[in-house]
Amino acid sequence: MADTLVEKQTLLQVENLKLYFPLYRGLILQRVTGHVRAIDGVSFSIERGQTLGLVGESGSGKTSVARALVRLYKPTEGRIYFDGKDLATLEGEALRNMRQRIQMIFQDPYASLNPRFTIASLIAEPMVIYRYGSKQEIQDRVLELLRVVGLRPEYADRYPHEFSGGQRQRIAIARALAIQPEVVIADEPVSALDVSVRAQVLNLLRQLQRQFSLTYLFISHDLSVVRHFADRIAVMYLGKIVELADRDELYAVPRHPYTKALLSAVPIPDPKVEKRRSRIILSGDLPSPINIPSGCRFHTRCPMAQEICRKEEPRFEPKGNGTHYAACHFSDKVSGTEDA
Ligand SMILES: Nc1ncnc2c1ncn2[C@@H]1O[C@H](COP(=O)(O)OP(=O)(O)OP(=O)(O)O)[C@@H](O)[C@H]1O
Ligand code: SF4
Ligand SMILES: [Mg+2]
Repeated sequence: MADTLVEKQTLLQVENLKLYFPLYRGLILQRVTGHVRAIDGVSFSIERGQTLGLVGESGSGKTSVARALVRLYKPTEGRIYFDGKDLATLEGEALRNMRQRIQMIFQDPYASLNPRFTIASLIAEPMVIYRYGSKQEIQDRVLELLRVVGLRPEYADRYPHEFSGGQRQRIAIARALAIQPEVVIADEPVSALDVSVRAQVLNLLRQLQRQFSLTYLFISHDLSVVRHFADRIAVMYLGKIVELADRDELYAVPRHPYTKALLSAVPIPDPKVEKRRSRIILSGDLPSPINIPSGCRFHTRCPMAQEICRKEEPRFEPKGNGTHYAACHFSDKVSGTEDA
């Protein structure tokens, strides 16, 4: 978490990012017949040492954002400034150099660790690829990393199947940290884990953030997890960020009906408060990113939709205090007194 005495510094800045996957028809002469608009104009920034939470339901485009940031996908449009350089357009050696400063942790620690390699070689692999040091230095660092993530160095020669889900995620974290990245993108890092070990892995991520001054993009569909983890939160809907605010502000005064609906589904530990709350159930499913609704893309499911919402796309703009952004024509009516 950021120290208020330290001057804030933007480390990662994303501007109007788009990622469209073409749809083809025809077996031989393939024609492009449309696009899956997985990311459809996303802008945000993350300060050094801070955590941005990215939330939204399945299919909203969260993983696509993560993959575009580490350039597993080349963006269709937009800019990704990292430490002043545009990652969206870098190629070759320059891309490789920047890439090692951003690492990713995936949701499924079973799928992300190759079962044929020992955990020592899995953790060492990025160091070998990026020529981190001599063989001995790499070996020493593997043992150190195991300790850092709370695993015993004696485990180094074991295989992934010998570990539990939580331990595997620790191994994946050690691997991500091996080449000393500045930014870690964690895509649903605890969703596949037993509830009993989730808190331990989250605590580890938090401790590592302090220890190594890491900047996080933390992706989750679970607002109760993000609440305890993020400094700022971005809410994504159908390829766009519809609301972005400081964590406490977002929970206290949501400015977008979609955020309000998501928040209404988060259980509150106080039974009295829980009893008074009403849950907002959204009608219908997430529309297809191939045919995005006109105007406000949320209008087909929005309980507050009016005529203008079908026609005019609301701008994503500052609301209230200047650090709170939302894209809704009626953002000032979203939080009634019962939510404030
Ligand atoms: N390689 C691809 N080709 C075509 N469409 C894709 C591809 N990857 C993702 N999509 C589509 O892009 C949209 C966004 O997917 P994405 O995986 O980014 O969502 P998500 O928010 O991470 O969802 P989840 O919570 O289920 O992980 C979905 O409609 C998905 O089907
Ligand atoms: S612009 Fe209209 S449809 Fe969109 S979120 Fe606001 S009220 Fe709902
Ligand atoms: Mg995903």
